[in-house]
Amino acid sequence: MIIAIDGPAASGKGTLGKRLAEHYGFAHLDTGLLYRAVARVLMDRDAPLTDREAATAVAQNLDVSHLEDDSRLRGAAMGEAASVVSAYQPVRDALLAFQRQFSRQEPGAVLDGRDIGTVVCPDADVKLFITAAPEERARRRHLELLRRGEQAEYETILEDIRRRDERDMNRSTAPLKAATDAVTLDTTHLDPDAAFQATLTIVEGKHS
Ligand code: CDP
Ligand code: CDP
Repeated sequence: MIIAIDGPAASGKGTLGKRLAEHYGFAHLDTGLLYRAVARVLMDRDAPLTDREAATAVAQNLDVSHLEDDSRLRGAAMGEAASVVSAYQPVRDALLAFQRQFSRQEPGAVLDGRDIGTVVCPDADVKLFITAAPEERARRRHLELLRRGEQAEYETILEDIRRRDERDMNRSTAPLKAATDAVTLDTTHLDPDAAFQATLTIVEGKHS
């Protein structure tokens, strides 16, 4: 069984993906970490993010183990950098096989990102598109960064979120959009527990 979760930054995809995976005993992959890791390697080498060939070579040779534990991938700057390298088709192509292979695990897998329901797993059993108002997503990210001790201004985060939405939705390759057979859930007024309960109802509904 495959559960595909897509949506914009800080809509709650990762939180939901993790909880659904725990609930069903499935594996979980936050695919944003793959793009963040490509950006990280380029930055470590002082290579410009606009060097498509370098980005592609990094993606083709990416060490995908322990990405979850790498706290350097989490910051706001890395999300922005990831959205630059993720717009290159060859980078996306290089990361596709790993994601598809991951999705085939038994008894099931949950993948979250931007193009899971549209490109990576078009045959997923359940497709969720998670949204929330940009102001609410910025509020969540702001709280998250403050909790981690990072300096952050709400207004700057809101601007970052809007810029990233714009770039992710308007790129020519695998743009962020709901698959035609996805169920959309707006979490603007839902806390993580309420969002999880709403999602369980959707998943059970699809599988009853
Ligand atoms: O994975 P994505 O960027 O979509 O978002 P996330 O990392 O799951 O959530 C971003 C932050 O918002 C986390 O600190 C969550 O606890 C919080 N959150 C929330 O306040 N309400 C929700 N319904 C979902 C997430
Ligand atoms: O956690 P947050 O939603 O802020 O970001 P993320 O999921 O870690 O993704 C970072 C960036 O990677 C996104 O802004 C996208 O440009 C890119 N991404 C993508 O293109 N396709 C995916 N399946 C996942 C992420």
